[in-house]
Amino acid sequence: MANFETILTPALLPQYDLKGKTVVVIDILRATSSICVGFNSGVTLFRPVAHPEQALVLEEDGFIAAAERNGQKLEGFSMGNSPFDYLNTDLNGKQVAITTTNGTRCLHLSYEAAEILIGSFLNLQAVADYCKKQNRDVIAFCAGWKDKFNLEDTLFAGALAQLLQNDLVIECDSTLAAMDLFDKAKTDLSGYIKKASHAQRFERLGIEKDIDFCMQQSIYNIVPRIVGEDLKL
Ligand code: MLT
Repeated sequence: MANFETILTPALLPQYDLKGKTVVVIDILRATSSICVGFNSGVTLFRPVAHPEQALVLEEDGFIAAAERNGQKLEGFSMGNSPFDYLNTDLNGKQVAITTTNGTRCLHLSYEAAEILIGSFLNLQAVADYCKKQNRDVIAFCAGWKDKFNLEDTLFAGALAQLLQNDLVIECDSTLAAMDLFDKAKTDLSGYIKKASHAQRFERLGIEKDIDFCMQQSIYNIVPRIVGEDLKL
């Protein structure tokens, strides 16, 4: 039977073997949530890049350039990393070059995996259903905040593990802790996450509305994945 493991922050990545496994990259606030909104709004491809300059070069080739650092859109970019940048916007057929503080870095760090999926609360059930069908080891990879643990990504790892607990073997303490954390928070995810450090950061930036949006569960039936250097459906 396949296993489920959770990497709580990128700093712990060296302790795990990604080869042959499905890695679900998680950055609830907000990269993986915003990427799901983008695909639902008609984006055909996201290209995760490490540096903002790379996104600007791709803008010359017709990409939309989206860049965020420390929770804020970078000056001179069409988009930042808010789900509202992608909501109710006509993005049909558009391609987006995106760089964020944590989420895009995690995608690049996952290169050894058999496949790399985008996980957010917005597409939670779709990701769980996909993983069930694959019958392959799954690693929930939390983007955290600059290599530190964060609550929101770990909550998602716990939620995903609970949906897969009858299909995969769970012996990983990080996963067991994540499941208990989700149990504690699940009746009011938005309320629980308001104490998180990133939520506090958003309050200071006046973008707390992003939190409630990103904590909605299973509103999109999509599973974006890495194909080559891009994210596609
Ligand atoms: C990220 O997506 O890397 C971070 O969560 C930053 C953010 O969107 O606020």
